[in-house]
Amino acid sequence: MSASASTIIVGDKNVELPIKTGTIGPDVVDIGKLYAQTGKFTFDPGFTSTASCESKITYIDGDEGVLLYRGYPIEQLAENGDFLETAYLMLFGELPSSAQKADFDYRVTRHTMVHDQMNRFFQGFRRDAHPMAVMVACVGALSAFYHDSTDISDESQRMIASLRMIAKMPTLAAMAYKYTIGQPFVYPKNDLDYTSNFLRMCFAVPCEEYVVNPIYARALDKIFILHADHEQNASTSTVRLAGSSGANPFACIAAGIACLWGPAHGGANEAALKMLMEIGHPENVQKYVAKAKDKNDPFRLMGFGHRVYKNYDPRARIMQKTTHEVLNELGIKDDLLEVAVQLEKIALEDEYFIEKKLYPNIDFYSGITLKALGFPTSMFTVLFALARTVGWIAQWAEMIEDPSQKIGRPRQLYIGPDRRDYTPIGQRS
Ligand code: SDX
Repeated sequence: MSASASTIIVGDKNVELPIKTGTIGPDVVDIGKLYAQTGKFTFDPGFTSTASCESKITYIDGDEGVLLYRGYPIEQLAENGDFLETAYLMLFGELPSSAQKADFDYRVTRHTMVHDQMNRFFQGFRRDAHPMAVMVACVGALSAFYHDSTDISDESQRMIASLRMIAKMPTLAAMAYKYTIGQPFVYPKNDLDYTSNFLRMCFAVPCEEYVVNPIYARALDKIFILHADHEQNASTSTVRLAGSSGANPFACIAAGIACLWGPAHGGANEAALKMLMEIGHPENVQKYVAKAKDKNDPFRLMGFGHRVYKNYDPRARIMQKTTHEVLNELGIKDDLLEVAVQLEKIALEDEYFIEKKLYPNIDFYSGITLKALGFPTSMFTVLFALARTVGWIAQWAEMIEDPSQKIGRPRQLYIGPDRRDYTPIGQRS
C-alpha cells in the first residue's frame, strides 16, 4: 500500500495528512493526527465517508456492482464452490487444496454438537419467542461453556473458537427453529455436509428417516455463500467494536447477531417477504411504489437500496436466478415472485428510484426462496446470521491480528447544555 499526502486548511492552519492507497478502491486520508494538529474532530454520522480499518477480506465496488471475497468474484464462488470452501477462503485468505478442504470439513463437522446443558437454555424461552432473540442469548451463552477457547491472546484458542462458532451456528439455529414449533431437537450427523446437516436438523423428525433434497441443499448452500461477508457493514462493525475491547468471540458474535436483527440490515429479508405478502398481487404494486416515494409516508421498499451499492447488488442477481431455478425445479408457482418481478420492473423505471440509485439488494429475493425451502419468515434473519458468522469471525480475527488495532472509541460533537450548577428540588419551578 503506497502513501502520499494531502494538505487541508482547517481554520487558520494548513494541515498535511497522509493519503493511503489500497489494492483497489478509493484512497483514504489518514486523519489520525487531525485532532492533535487542529483541535478539531471530523464529523460523519453513519460513517458514510469513513474507513474504520484496513482489510484484505472483502471488496465491494458499489458503482459497478462488484463483490470480491479475497479477490474472487462472488459469482464464481457461488457457481463453483460450497459454503465451507468460502469459509476457508475467508479465514485463511486462499482457496483450499483438496486435502485442506477435507481436513477443514472434518474439523468443522466435529464441532457441530453443543454442550448438552444448552438444551435447558431453550426451556426458559416462550415458544413464540423470535428465533433471533434465542440466537442472541444462546450464542452469547457459548462463552459460559467453552472456557478453553476464550483467551483471545492465544492463537490456537482463537482458531478453536472460530471453528466452534462456524460449526455450532447451524445446530443452534435448528434448535431455535425446532423449539418454536414444539418438535424435538435433532442432533447433527457427521456423514452429512454442512448445509445438508442443517436442513436435516431443521426438518427431520424422530418418527421417520429424512432424506435431504439435493436441490434444497445446493440452493441454501449458495445462499449462505452470498451472505458470508460484506466489508464493514453495521453488524460486522459491531463485532469489530466489541472485539476491540478484548471481549471473547462468542460475545462478539452475539453482538453482531443483535445488530443484524434490525429491519434496515439483516432483518430486511423477513421484512421484504412480509411486504410482498402485504402487496399480495402485481396490480397493487403501483400503490406501494407511490407510498415508498412519499416523504410523509415511513413506508420503504424493503429489500431495496443500499449504503454502498448504487447499482444492482450482484448478490441480488444471483438470488433472483436461484429463486427462479428452485421454484421451477420444485414445480412451485409462487405469486409473490410475480409481485417481486413486477415491483422491481416498475421501481427501476421510476425517476425517484433512478435518481436515488435504489436497486434490489440481497434481501429482495432471498425470502421467496427461503419460503420455498420451508422456512418461516421468522427464521430468515437467523439464516443470514448463520452465513454471516463466517465473515464476522474472519473480520474479528483480522482485527485481533492487526498490529495497529486499538479499542474503538469515537468522539462526538456535544450540543447539550453548557456547564450549570445543581438546583435543590425545593428551588425548582
Ligand atoms: C443489508 O451494509 C451492508 O453491506 C448491508 C448488507 C450486508 O450484506 O451486510 O448488504 C445487508 O443490510 C442490505 C440492506 C437491507 N435493508 C433494506 O432493504 C431496508 C430498505 N433500505 C433502506 O432502508 C436503505 O436503503 C438502507 C438502510 C439499506 C441504506 O440507507 P442509507 O445508505 O442510509 O441511505 P438513505 O436511507 O439515506 O437513503 C437515501 C435516499 C433517502 O431519500 P432522501 O432522504 O435522500 O430524500 O433514498 C431513500 C431515502 O429515503 N431510500 C428509499 C429506500 N432506501 C433509501 N426510499 C424508498 N425505499 C427504500 N428502500
